Amino acid sequence: MSDAPITSYDAFLESTFGEELEAFLSHPPVDTFLRVNPLRTTPEALDAAMARYGVVLEPHPISPLVRRVVSHRPEVPPGVCLPHFLGHFRLQALASMVPPLLLDAQPGEKVLDLCAAPGSKTTQLAAQMELRGQLWVNELAGKRMNQLAAALDSAGALNTVLLQESGTRLPNLFEDTFDRVLADVPCTGLGIRDNLGQGRARFEEVGRPSNLPFIQYQLLVAALRLVKPGGRVVYSTCSLTVEENEAILHDALTRFDVRMVPPPDLPGLILRPGRTSHRGRDLHPDLRLACRITPWENRTEGFFAATLERLGELPERHARRAVHDPRRRTLPHDAPEIEPTLTSLSTVYGIPREAFTAYRYARHARDKVYFTSAEVEDAWCASQRIGAGLASRRGAVWRPSPTTVQTFAPLICRNLVTLDDGQLRELIATDRCPLSAAQRAELTTTYPAAAHPTVGPFASLELEPDGRARWKVPRRYELE
Ligand SMILES: C[S@@+](CC[C@H](N)C(=O)[O-])C[C@H]1O[C@@H](n2cnc3c(N)ncnc32)[C@H](O)[C@@H]1O
Repeated sequence: MSDAPITSYDAFLESTFGEELEAFLSHPPVDTFLRVNPLRTTPEALDAAMARYGVVLEPHPISPLVRRVVSHRPEVPPGVCLPHFLGHFRLQALASMVPPLLLDAQPGEKVLDLCAAPGSKTTQLAAQMELRGQLWVNELAGKRMNQLAAALDSAGALNTVLLQESGTRLPNLFEDTFDRVLADVPCTGLGIRDNLGQGRARFEEVGRPSNLPFIQYQLLVAALRLVKPGGRVVYSTCSLTVEENEAILHDALTRFDVRMVPPPDLPGLILRPGRTSHRGRDLHPDLRLACRITPWENRTEGFFAATLERLGELPERHARRAVHDPRRRTLPHDAPEIEPTLTSLSTVYGIPREAFTAYRYARHARDKVYFTSAEVEDAWCASQRIGAGLASRRGAVWRPSPTTVQTFAPLICRNLVTLDDGQLRELIATDRCPLSAAQRAELTTTYPAAAHPTVGPFASLELEPDGRARWKVPRRYELE
């Protein structure tokens, strides 16, 4: 790559896209895709549930869990349907599903998502792992943590340990620890045409495309340190610039004992090989094994993804091992700190006490309990939280989270109200719905579980003095 600076944004776009610049500027709109969450439903059940809302879905060959949205009523896009609120699927660009497909996380492994918010790929990894093993989830930006935690709750991603750190600092504590690491790093987003205007403004401000390659390289090196020798790192961006992709990998390939891994077959996607030269400079020849996904050939966002295998030791080790704080160990179901919560849930909702033995728990302060998979026994002292919310204390009773209601749905048999279509519609539209006197007569606390015939029990409501029931519907219209 020539070291001569690029002096204009147009020259930069020309060097990035070459003859295909026109195709990038004029491609048709991208399609909408969703990924079925197998932790919550099946593809067939989701097809049927969405058909009730007039949403027509079509399978995509890349995975049995992927659907293209063929059509919907203008006033009912998929993001406003109950299965979306309940985490039965996630709206996600097709290209954004590729990095986890390359990472291919396996049940039972220890996996790290280094730059995780808002959580599209994290929830895909949790599903790949079938909630077995440990999924460590890291994000730097404090203001994105809530969205990330909500995504984990909604998807039922229980085998998670949430961290808030710069990914570049994690090797200080967890060097050589993980079987697989996803480094879906911050980027300019220049695989998405809508970001071009922002890119031009940035270029004019800093006199170059961005300062991001510096942190991108640091995050890749961190990922290579975090993974065990023999483990895999997937590096990805939603940018198609060589500076943010091949140039970063070239530096790692020429400095460290790592190799590129060929991509798997990804039916239904046209993959372009990575670039092996740019602006007159030769890049590592194995970069041809990287995947470039162009929007004009695939009707999805432009994306770059590549898999590296770490072969041996990396130079300049500087690890200090994480200190395990015994206070942050997860607890078994019969720990005295947890017992009252589980007994309350069992008594009030009829969930057999034995159903809770399969999980481990953490109590945060006095009024919130989290639950996680049995394999998440330990957690680093500075983790933000473990697993998903189980229940929050409300006076004398424990109110179950939507994740809890959905996880134990088939077992809930008391303090349960089944809403009809009209009640559900009103609840979704206004966060409240009236309950009939007959419905209220069956309830034993002010936090009954709510069910609908299409999805079963899905959340707990709060009864208000005027006889209505309230649930702050977790509306998620965003498309990542
Ligand atoms: C491309 S987004 C990740 C998208 C996410 N993987 C998904 O699929 O939903 C990159 C994320 O990295 C975060 N980030 C930026 N700098 C970071 C750092 N030094 N360490 C960890 N995360 C960082 C950003 O806040 C942003 O949320």
